[in-house]
Amino acid sequence: MSFTVFEQAPARLNRSELAVPGSSARFLEKAAQSNADIVFLDLEDAVAPDEKPKARKNIIEALNDLDWSRKTVSVRINGLDTPFMYRDVVEVLEGAPDKLDLIMIPKVGTAADVYMVDCLVSQIEAATGAKKRIGLEMIIESALGMANIDAIAAASKRNESLHFGVADYAASTKAATVGIGGPNPNYGVLTDTLEDGSRAYHWGDMWHYAIARMVVAARAHGLRPVDGPFGDIKDGEGYSAQARRAMVLGCEGKWAIHPSQIDLANTIFSPSENEVAKARAILDAMEQAKAEGRGAVTLDGKLIDLASIKQAEVLVNKAAQITG
Ligand code: GLV
Ligand code: MG
Repeated sequence: MSFTVFEQAPARLNRSELAVPGSSARFLEKAAQSNADIVFLDLEDAVAPDEKPKARKNIIEALNDLDWSRKTVSVRINGLDTPFMYRDVVEVLEGAPDKLDLIMIPKVGTAADVYMVDCLVSQIEAATGAKKRIGLEMIIESALGMANIDAIAAASKRNESLHFGVADYAASTKAATVGIGGPNPNYGVLTDTLEDGSRAYHWGDMWHYAIARMVVAARAHGLRPVDGPFGDIKDGEGYSAQARRAMVLGCEGKWAIHPSQIDLANTIFSPSENEVAKARAILDAMEQAKAEGRGAVTLDGKLIDLASIKQAEVLVNKAAQITG
């Protein structure tokens, strides 16, 4: 290990993160009863400018009156370049003290953006005597945010997670695509001529770099990397494929922008019994190897070594976190 060690963010389950517009009291009520690990109550893009004051009021009422005890609850505030952000933070934290776990900062561009929200939250916590320390979630969804991702990840001790906001990211980078996440048929490679004279076209994952980059920045700073939205809410198979590839790259979870996506995310981001059993077998084999003074052994014909212990522990620890 390096001599530089970042503290790990508080261990919270973050397999599914449900987005719910603050403008709808009915949706807020349903969200509180859902299976989502985390719910973020939205004041930003799902709420029209004229609706912002009403949405704040709904959110304050929902935080005070509904039972959120079985989940982590966050509020997505408006961006720092809007006239809404300061009121979002002040009104929600003062109106529902000690109810919120996290604040989500959208379109974060620099470390100073995080500093600004940290400062505001710290002042309100000191003034209200709040006991619950608010954590911060940052959405990486602009070219500027991606360019400054390491500094953003390190910007505050409140930081808990980085999220990939694929729709705004596509707009900011001027990507030639209009869907919210998912593959694009124009992003692929055409093979040379194959032996049978044909050529094959393979679709690629145009979001690979962004997600892999976010995972590295998040993990290097002890934060949770979380994949963002998938817009085609009728396509559960498409959602699941996107979630699986994010999981394989190291993400802890994925947003659900519709309740039907919650259980898909919870299942995909929970290690299966089979995977956990394999991981335990690796730990047992390495325990045995240690007793015999060996650093590496073979298990089912495959080499395993000290790094395998760490990989296996990730799965076993995740399974333990889920069963509580
Ligand atoms: C999320 O906020 C996104 O822009 O995808
Ligand atoms: Mg966005």
